[in-house]
Amino acid sequence: MMSALHKYHTFFSNHKTPFYFYDTDLLQRTLAEIKKTSSTYNYHVHYALKANTNDTLLKIIKEAGLGADCVSGNEVKKAIELGFGAANVVFAGVGKSDDEINYALQQNIFCFNCESIPEIEVINELAKQQNKTAQIALRINPNIDAQTHKYITTGLEENKFGINFHELTDVLAVLKNCSNLKLIGLHFHIGSQITDLNPFKNLCTRVNEIQQWFLQRGYQLPHLNVGGGLGINYNKPDEEALCDFNAFFSLFKKFLQVQPNQQIHFELGRAVVAQCGSLITKVLYIKKGTNTNFAILDAGMTELIRPALYQAYHKIENVSKGKGQNLKYDVVGPICESSDCFGKAVELPETLRGDIMAIRSAGAYGEVMSSQYNLRDKVKSYFSREIK
Ligand code: LLP
Repeated sequence: MMSALHKYHTFFSNHKTPFYFYDTDLLQRTLAEIKKTSSTYNYHVHYALKANTNDTLLKIIKEAGLGADCVSGNEVKKAIELGFGAANVVFAGVGKSDDEINYALQQNIFCFNCESIPEIEVINELAKQQNKTAQIALRINPNIDAQTHKYITTGLEENKFGINFHELTDVLAVLKNCSNLKLIGLHFHIGSQITDLNPFKNLCTRVNEIQQWFLQRGYQLPHLNVGGGLGINYNKPDEEALCDFNAFFSLFKKFLQVQPNQQIHFELGRAVVAQCGSLITKVLYIKKGTNTNFAILDAGMTELIRPALYQAYHKIENVSKGKGQNLKYDVVGPICESSDCFGKAVELPETLRGDIMAIRSAGAYGEVMSSQYNLRDKVKSYFSREIK
């Protein structure tokens, strides 16, 4: 089958590879679907900047009315500079530095998602110095197995994230002495690339229990943030370009017990941007191996590290060739590491030096995780709406 990207072949051939190519129409359609399905239940969706901080994409996401979920001072700065509005910015992370906290306090962000007692104490102290009251949510580790890759599982007690349930009594005691903090909510995030909705159902049950615990102690909190993690279909970037957002949000509607006037927040990253991005690269050489042929690309783990780091699958297409006999190739990059491999025994039409290849579903955790290891050039990006 001809790649859906074939219509951009001339553009791809005329520009120096490798680069990221973003289908901005698809991003807009995805955002429209998120808005439509989430607003049915009056849910607030924040975009997790960590997935992709490309300015052009951020502007489109901001225009669609999503808030910003940040995990560093620079992400907070980026969100504010691009106009997300401080009142729509949440700031999470296990290791917020004093400078980052001070900056976020100056900006009057909506909420700090706090991950430990020492962090709560530091935010209180810094807020006191600025003569402010900081709004905080407690990030609670729900001890739920997200059934995803171990590097992107965050909600188990063995993970470094969040405050464990058994510490909550101590947390409330500490908060009594923190006069410059206002507890406004609870925050949860169990992991990423979750394609089976069951872990989210388990999360709801756990959140309900934890919320009861707080209610019994007189805390009726106005905000619940249930994080992100909705997975995408890496096998079918065209057929399933959009996630089933309706199924996702309606599951929370069904299983989450919401208090009167309570606002529910989500933090989606991958599900917003993954499918709109492809890494476009050229074949440098076809090299005959002992058992296999290598297709050596001009993009490597420096541009997209997910296969090397998480053994992640990304669909690989030869955009130059429509059809032809399928041969098997190990598709690799030029970096001096054996892990610099995008896929083994990948079936492709006969592939030659100079062919344009697309590594699909690379819009999330692609460009943002790129590096200049081996003194590689910084990776560029182009957008479908710029192409006539
Ligand atoms: N909220 C928090 C607190 C998070 O830690 C994350 C992701 C998100 C939201 C957004 O999750 P998403 O909706 O994108 O699944 N680099 C890895 C993924 C790391 C995810 C880290 N946290 C990858 O390439 O698979």
